[in-house]
Amino acid sequence: MNKLYFIETWGCQMNEEDSEKLSGMLINLGYISSKKREDADIIIFNTCCVRENAELKVYGNLGELKALKRKKPDLKIAVCGCMMQQSSMAQKLIKRYPFVDIIFGTHNAYKFPEYLNRCIQEEKSIIEIFHKEEKIVEGIPVDRLSSVKAFVTIMYGCNNFCTYCIVPFVRGRERSRTPKNIINEINDLASKGYKEITLLGQNVNSYGKDLSEKVSFASLLETIAQIDGILRIRFMTSHPKDLTDDLIDVISRNSKIVNQIHLPVQSGSTNILKKMNRGYTREQYLNLIHKIKDKIPDVAITTDIIIGFPGETEEDVLDTISLCIEVKFDSAFTFIYSKREGTVAYNYHDDVSDEIKHYRFNRLIKVLDEISLSNNEKCLNGEFDILVEGPSKNDESRLMGRTEGGKLVNFSGTEDMIGKLVKVKITDVRAHSLIGEIL
Ligand code: SAH
Ligand code: SF4
Ligand code: F3S
Repeated sequence: MNKLYFIETWGCQMNEEDSEKLSGMLINLGYISSKKREDADIIIFNTCCVRENAELKVYGNLGELKALKRKKPDLKIAVCGCMMQQSSMAQKLIKRYPFVDIIFGTHNAYKFPEYLNRCIQEEKSIIEIFHKEEKIVEGIPVDRLSSVKAFVTIMYGCNNFCTYCIVPFVRGRERSRTPKNIINEINDLASKGYKEITLLGQNVNSYGKDLSEKVSFASLLETIAQIDGILRIRFMTSHPKDLTDDLIDVISRNSKIVNQIHLPVQSGSTNILKKMNRGYTREQYLNLIHKIKDKIPDVAITTDIIIGFPGETEEDVLDTISLCIEVKFDSAFTFIYSKREGTVAYNYHDDVSDEIKHYRFNRLIKVLDEISLSNNEKCLNGEFDILVEGPSKNDESRLMGRTEGGKLVNFSGTEDMIGKLVKVKITDVRAHSLIGEIL
């Protein structure tokens, strides 16, 4: 009988894509995906460490596995991902949870089948973390969650070292995949019927800078837009300091490249942006937004914002709020600053209480919700092309899909519409989703 596996993934799309590869490798070994954690013969936790609460979730979940492991001694437990890439964390974890069988980091995830095999044969736990990134390993099998849309990583790592961020420490320096490998993967996806791809990288605008071949992100996008069968091309994340005019032109020229840009601002205060080492001022960010809106009229702009960076004043928060009102973000991920050991900001003096941070955070959320609702209200009675992704999350008898700008729409339809573009009229709106009917 086939053995079962269960993967729990925390963190960003990078981790989701890595989990799809872990899944692909396990299927190649003859394993089958399990819906329930309790039924699995191997459980993998793919961890994130971008904020403290991401780590706390891992600890909580590992605590729950202790009893399961006692009941099923043959169960194998593996922990990997960004949190484990820090060797001090891996050591701490194995001391606290000695029943964990395999620990590996982000740079050696491709070696997982070897570790699993060794762990089963030798009946001992394995901790292996590569301290430096290696060359990109191509050709790893991928088991994708969706049959309509797929992630394609175009580059790994980050060179920016924003002072709050742990990512460059756990994902290494920037490494771009060759255009040939990327195009081959997308051609293959198109032939399998995938309709939407999302190109992934911590900073897609610096794609190609490390390659001998002369290629920019804008030129890569233009080549991908010529692939038949793919209807929509998304990408994330764009760093405001590196977003070129060329890229704006390519987006406005190609209908398959969606008119949506995720452009994390982090703060609306130049003072804080400087302390964050973001490489742009409030004014430069706003100028960039105006330029984008001029050239791509219906563009949707989404963002990430951190509240409570060390030394943040009331004035800084007001700057962030006023910037949000000026840009009218279509959606925003908001975070309370979390101190990360090893980063530059870890040592910054912070005299703002948690209570004040939460108060500021709640004010910002309220403003963002109002902006989002008002943006959505403009869609009421409008007609949109929706790429149907599958059953709706809250009500499986309905369907869900997205507009080109990335807005989530729930509506009634039939299963054969999944994977197709359908015309939907918006009949009602919420702050974070739309409701519609098929035309
Ligand atoms: N490369 C992307 C994503 C980085 S992580 C980018 O540059 O935007 C995703 C988001 O997490 C960041 O944009 C930032 O808003 C947030 N983040 C990163 N480190 C954080 C920290 N220490 N505390 C709170 N939020 C953080
Ligand atoms: Fe982190 Fe900044 Fe790199 Fe994004 S650009 S991953 S926020 S260091
Ligand atoms: Fe992503 Fe978290 Fe790692 S945000 S890159 S999974 S630290």
